Parts: sequence; C-alpha cells; structure tokens
Amino acid sequence: MRALCSLILLAALPLSLAVKSHDFKTCSQAGFCRRGRALSARAKESDSWTSPYSLDAASLALSPDQASFTAGVKSSLYPDIKFGLDVRIHEDGVVRVRMDEINGLRKRYDEAASWALVSDPKISHDIKWVVGKKEIRAKYGSKGFTETVVLNGQGLLHMEHFRTKAPEPPKVENETTEGNPEAEAAQQVLEVPNPRAWFEGDTEDAYWEESFSSWTDSKPKGPESLSVDINFPNHGHVYGIPQHASTLSLRTTTGENPYYTDPYRLYNADTFEYIADSTMSLYGSIPLMHAHSADSTVAVFHAIGSETWVDIEHPSSKSTRTHWISESGILDIFIIPGPTPEAVFAQYSKLTGTQANPADWSLGYHQCRWNYVSSDDVRTLQKRFDEEDIPVDVFWLDIEYSEEHKYFIWDKKNFPDPVDMIKDVEALERKMVIIIDPHLKRVSSYPVYQEAVDRGLLAKQKNGNEYEGWCWSGSSAWVDFFNPGSWDWWKTLFKTNALGDGKFSWTESTENVYIWNDMNEPAVFNGPEISMPRDNVHYGGWEHRDLHNINGMLFSNMTSQAITARSDPPKRPFVLTRAFYAGSQRFGAMWTGDNLGTWEHMAVGIKMVLANSIAGFSFAGSDVGGFFGNPDPEMLVRWYHVGAFSPFFRAHAHIDTKRREPFLLDQPYKGIVKDILRLRYSMLPIWYTAFRESSVTGLPVVRPHYVVFPQDEAGFAIDDQFWVGGSGLLVKPVTEKGVSEVSVYLPEDQHLHTQVYYDYFTHQTYRGSAKGKNVTVPAALHQVPLLVRGGSILPTRERPRRSSPLMKKDPFTLRVALDKAGNARGELYLDDGVTFSHQQGHIVWREFKSEKQGKGFKISSHDLAKANPSEAVDGVALTTYDPANAFARSIQDVRIEKVVVLGLPTEPSSVKIGSEDAQWEYTPGVAASGKVDGVASVLVIKDPKASVIADWQILIA
Ligand code: NOJ
Repeated sequence: MRALCSLILLAALPLSLAVKSHDFKTCSQAGFCRRGRALSARAKESDSWTSPYSLDAASLALSPDQASFTAGVKSSLYPDIKFGLDVRIHEDGVVRVRMDEINGLRKRYDEAASWALVSDPKISHDIKWVVGKKEIRAKYGSKGFTETVVLNGQGLLHMEHFRTKAPEPPKVENETTEGNPEAEAAQQVLEVPNPRAWFEGDTEDAYWEESFSSWTDSKPKGPESLSVDINFPNHGHVYGIPQHASTLSLRTTTGENPYYTDPYRLYNADTFEYIADSTMSLYGSIPLMHAHSADSTVAVFHAIGSETWVDIEHPSSKSTRTHWISESGILDIFIIPGPTPEAVFAQYSKLTGTQANPADWSLGYHQCRWNYVSSDDVRTLQKRFDEEDIPVDVFWLDIEYSEEHKYFIWDKKNFPDPVDMIKDVEALERKMVIIIDPHLKRVSSYPVYQEAVDRGLLAKQKNGNEYEGWCWSGSSAWVDFFNPGSWDWWKTLFKTNALGDGKFSWTESTENVYIWNDMNEPAVFNGPEISMPRDNVHYGGWEHRDLHNINGMLFSNMTSQAITARSDPPKRPFVLTRAFYAGSQRFGAMWTGDNLGTWEHMAVGIKMVLANSIAGFSFAGSDVGGFFGNPDPEMLVRWYHVGAFSPFFRAHAHIDTKRREPFLLDQPYKGIVKDILRLRYSMLPIWYTAFRESSVTGLPVVRPHYVVFPQDEAGFAIDDQFWVGGSGLLVKPVTEKGVSEVSVYLPEDQHLHTQVYYDYFTHQTYRGSAKGKNVTVPAALHQVPLLVRGGSILPTRERPRRSSPLMKKDPFTLRVALDKAGNARGELYLDDGVTFSHQQGHIVWREFKSEKQGKGFKISSHDLAKANPSEAVDGVALTTYDPANAFARSIQDVRIEKVVVLGLPTEPSSVKIGSEDAQWEYTPGVAASGKVDGVASVLVIKDPKASVIADWQILIA
C-alpha cells in the first residue's frame, strides 16, 4: 500500500471576553483523535514501523476501458476484513483515491463528495497503467519524476472496521476471582496479550461511547474512524483547510517544538468570541490543502463530512508531513497536481465549482447590527446615510425583526408595515437582507414548523423521535435538509405571492429582500459543543456525525435556490452563510462569525479571508468594527479600510454594543470613513471584474503573494498584504494602533526584475528589486497603503452616489500605470448585475492595452468576449455572443471620461483619439522606465469621447 501510493502520486474589551474553550473539545477529549494521534506516536517511536495494510495483488483489476483500477486491500491485523481501493485519474490529471470497507457489518458514509462536487468528473482515457508485481504506476503528463504527494508514506493509514461489541465481562462480586470459574476465565481473556496493540493500542479507547462535559455520545456503530498521512516531501508551505483564526501558511502542530499543541480541527461550531490565534474549529470547514514550493503547487481535497483533525509537521523547511484523522466516512482523496497555483484553482473548481458570479449590488457596502429595532429605525438609518451622502447598498435585519424568533413572521409591534419599509429602502435602489435561521420554534401556531412536522421533515434523535434543542427561539426543531422532500417545500416559503390552501409563503416580503443564514453549523445552545448530538439521525439513516460539516451548506444551498426561483425571470441570489463546506462558494457569501473588536481580530480576519479565498470560497469578509466590543474611532477607521478591501464588506455589531454607524462618528473620522466608502464604490468595477474571473477560472478574488508570485520564496508566508484580483492592486491595511507608516513587501518579478509600483493616491513610485524588497509607505489614519503595480490599467467610476445601482450609467476613469517597458493592460467586465442574461452573452468584457509604439504610446480598447467566447462568463460558452447585445446597447452612451497615464518619460507633443486631438494636461515627474523614485509624471486625458463598449485608440506622440 505504501509503495503503491507513493508511486501513484507523482474599544477595549473586558478581559473576561474570550471563547469558552471548555465548551469545545481538544484532540485529547475526542476518542478518535486521541486514537489517531496515539497511532502516530507509536509509529514515531518504532524503528521498524510498517503499515499493516497491503494490496491484495491477486485482486488488482484494471477497468475494461483502462481508465481506473480497483484492488482489494488487506490488513494483516484483521485478515477477515476486506477493504477496496479504487483509483482513477481525471482528464485534468486529478487523481481520485477512494477506499472503503467491503461487505462490512454496516455501510460507511460515502456521500460527502456528492454534495461537494459540482458534477461527475470526466475520467481520462490516456493513462498508461503499468502493473508490476508490487506496484502500479500511472504514467501521464510530462517526463520527469518528483515525488509530490505521498499517501500513507508514514504508514498511518487506518480504517477502523465495523465490529460487534464484545459482551461485557461478567460482573465480579468480590475482589478476588479465586474459586469463581466464570470470573477466572474472564480474567484470563483480559490477560491474553493483544497482538494488535502495536498498531491500535492496547485499550478500546472510547469505541462504544464517550462523554464530554455533561453529554454522552452513544456511538451505536462503534469505532469507524479513519486516519491517513499525506506528505509533501518537496513542499515547505501548506495553506488552506479553513476555517481557523491563524496564519495563512499553516503552522506546525506536532514534531519538535510545535507552534500549536492541538491539530487543526474541522468541526463546524458556534465558537463565539473565538481566540485570534488557534487551531480551534470555527464555523465552516473546507478539507482542501495547498502545498507550495518555488517549483510547484499541488493540493489535496479530502471529501469527508465528519469531524477531522489535521496535524502538521515540517521535517525540514522544504518538506511537510500531515496527518488527517476523521471520525467516520470513507477515504475519498482528490490529489490535485497543479503544478501552478492557476492550475490548482482550475482543477479544484472543476471539482467543487467556482465562486458564483454575484449580484453587483452585493459588492457594495452592507450596514448591519443586531438589531435595527423597528421599521422607523430602518427609515432613520437610511435618512442619516443620505443626509451625510455616505454610500450604502444594503440594510440588514437580525433576529429581532421576527415575532418570538419565528423567522419569516414579523414582530408587528415594531415592524407594523414591513413591505412599506422595504419599499422605502428600494426607492434608492437599495436592498434588504433579513435573517432566516435554521431552528424552528416548536409551536403549532408557527406554520413553518407545523408544515415541517406534517411533512415529516425534521431531524431526529437516535430513537426516531423529533429532535428538540434550544436556540434563539427557545425549544426548537431543525429541518433535515438531507431529506429531498424538504427541498421544494423550502423554496415555496420564499415566494412573495400567496400559495393558497393555507400554505405559508412570505407575502410580507419583496424580491429585494435577500437572506442571511446564520447558526447553521447547526448551533444548539444546550447541545454538545453547542451543536447537535452526533447520534442524531438524518435522512437515509445517517448519523449526524457522518455529515456534520456538510449540514450548513445544504441550508444555504436550498435558500439560494429558493431566492433564485422566487423571481421570473430568475434573479441572482444573495445568501450569507456562517457554516460552510467545500462547494459552498456556489451558493453565496460567508463571513468569519463573531469576532472581537480588537486589533488582533482585525489582523487575523485578513488571513482568514485569504485562507477561505484559496479554498475556493472568495466571497468572504469579517464583521467591520468587530462583533463584540466598542472599538474606538481609530480602530473603526482602520477596520473600514480592511472591509473596503474585502470581497464582502459589511459592518455588524452585537446587541450590547453602542451604535457605531459611520454617520455617528465625529470629524475627522466621519469624513475619513466616507472617503473609504467612496473609494470602495469607485472601485466596484475592479471588484466585479475580479469576481467574473473567479467565477470562470477559480482564481481567488483576493490573492496572497504565493498565488501571484509563486516563485518568490520571501512572499510565501506573507498574509498581511494581498492583491485584488488580477488588477495589479496591492494593499496592506493597517491593523495596529498608532501607525503612521508601514513596510510593504514588493515581490520579485521573474521577468522585469525591478518593477515600478505607484501609490494609488499620491503617485509616488517605489521600485522593486530582483530579490524582492521592503519599502516604507505612508499610512496616516486617512491613508490605506495601496499600490498599483506597473503594467496595470484600472477602470473606476469616480462620481459619488448613494448606492451602486445609481452608478450604472456613470462614466469610467482609466488609470494606466505604465511598467518599465512602457506597457500596461487591464480588464473591465460588466453585465446587468442582477439577472442571468450574462449567460446568454449579454455582457461587455473589454481589454485595455497600453503599448509602446516607436517613441510614443498607443492606448486601446478591445472586445475580450469576442476573442474568448468560451471563457467569457460562468463557464458557459457564449456561442451566441453578439458585441451589440441588449446589455451592451443599454450602456453604449456610457463613456470613458478620463484616462490618467502614470510614468510617461516626457511630455507628449500630441494626444489623439482616432484622428482627433484630445484635451490633455501633463504634470512632469519620474518615468516608469527611470531608476530613481519620486512622484510619477501624470498625463490626464480629458473626455476622450470613447464609449465603454467600443473599440478605440489613443495615440500619444
Ligand atoms: C450569531 C451571529 O454570528 C451574529 O452575527 C448574529 O448577530 C447573532 N447570531 C444574532 O442573530
């Protein structure tokens, strides 16, 4: 087995505010994690450790089409137990390795992949399998052999088979067994040395039952955990497996001097007031890990839905060992070969889907708090934003809008006129997001609960009775979304028209109400680890433990389908989810949960968003201001900078905090926050373009250094500065108090060596170096360190408006940041932002280029959709693409109102658009091609009379 696998794979907070760690298990408090770690410890101590698992050579079989092979696997410890291995290689080179118990006493949960995968992967038929006596080799790809991913290289593979519980030894009345033949026999049995102890340990540790705090987990299926080591002998950095409040480059948890004592844990949990530096589980889990070196990037995705712990060790700075320990399920590992970050993103998103192309307004600013307490409160909120001319797109309502936390049902005392209130918000083309939690108040007068009861849709206890737990609504029940019967029913609830027959639908709502799905880990206040008991039973008889980490994704999946189906023609949904799993990116956005208003939480929020982004879920952000506490104005301003550079930008606050909406701030803070919000709005075209790219290629919307400069070792651990899409914008938000300047790392560029960067606001230049370089950038409170890499063209919309839909006909500004050679390029993607007409080709996707031409420069605009019809959007081939499509025509009068060129070497003698002279102004300064830094030269071309949908050329002589 070992040989086989290695060959296959070529405001100050009160101090008391902190997570209640004792509510959540450490590895040593979880039986299967304890067993997994003990196995690894025994392996380390042994000089002659070999895996007891081996391939049954006689059973090796290639599929008739030679596309995959299966083999029996034996364990020398249990000769009667059979396991089956199935290995196949997808068309894009991803290797899927599955192992399950065959004809076991029970069936292991094998459906995790069916929830995570977007479609059935296509198997490659070009693989040449070479079957030897002891091994199988798969030959594909280019020549050469570097060991990249090794499964079971340390021999820690262990699939605990299903077994029957041995009868309890008879109770012995008195201390001594002497003279009691039955007891004597039992004693002898106990004393027989256990031949499997070297591998499994000598006790049946928590096989059949275990307790944590006041809860007992009954484990009727007995032990079924799964352990496997996955090693990356040539990769020194690993990233991913979100969600943890930790660094992007994962730290060691075992070996010599581990940074953390516990493995990284994946078990969706309501870990409110979490620690800002920990491997503790948070609200979501994506079992995807990238491994990176200057030579290559690879990844592994383990499609497993149960609790999983991952130990990490670096035997050297150039290699990584990991050990994955899961409570139940089958081994279903996808080895993602890369070898570049781009390839890894393409391969992973082919498996689990890309980030959904969002509604454009959802990239604007979201104002939330727990709670805006009445419809008049919402109206006043809107009025105050408008009086101060501060842009905002969405007002949010938390749980207190609902009567006794019966979601959908308005508390009419405070919200007597919900539809009128929503219509008032809609008047400025704004939206509302309203919370729908998964716990249903157990009262028969609540139609949503009663309908779920009548249809038999609720999750059950192990004895088959309805499961009852405690949450915001008091005694509550939970819909079992694994039951297909719940799917269509859930969609009917969101219809804004009456359904008749007494069936509930949300008539007191409109199509501009979007949804926030919270508490979907699920959170149960009186449950073990604030969640459901693991021995609860779901549709199909699966235990909650088997699918816990997938549970929350089904809730946001069904809600997003409901929101899409509500309108005709359908509109793009917006659903924010707290719990998530691999694939959740297809259904909406996530946030990092209940953070604290501290500098540490602000800083770790950036790392968490990056970790999520590289794990496929880009639409991410953290509560601006911090959920708990009362941040002082300085912290709040800095937090707005972080938010303005997060894909999802929402301010939120706990019910006990003071109000802190931007208009409440004193000057200068209020003005600074207004400027930050306007900056975000001016950059919405850049964000929207980045989302389009992500929805097609899987590349993250915000990108860490190793993704953008995969060969620049100095950037591999950097996670406090990052890139916005492929725009060339590099940002380093300040996350410390009292700072006036920061050091920004300029990565090494393989081709141009010393690239020039421009300060976005002042046009000060900073030149990189072939070795990478740190530069000092001003960062007073009103300044976010924001650089534009030479070679970029940025499209912005600079007219302040009150909401983003009001900008739809606004003109664009292009910022052309020349690189050393005098070239630059950028993209702009637009569609109606609301419907799915983009999938029929109703889009505008432009490329802007600046090229050196003789002694002058040519700046031009081209139709990228025409040039790349199969790549244009959402992976749908635009066979019907027409440059004069209805959307393009609707914005044909939208122009480029200004082109700003940074870094020209000399003052132009003429600037022409086509054959006509343009109006322009030139301010001398340093050139992109120069050697010294200073303020760059700036050429402003005014109103070049160029339509955003047309091809045009500007010639600078
Ligand atoms: C917990 C969520 O994390 C938080 O954002 C929300 O305000 C509260 N639940 C109340 O709904």
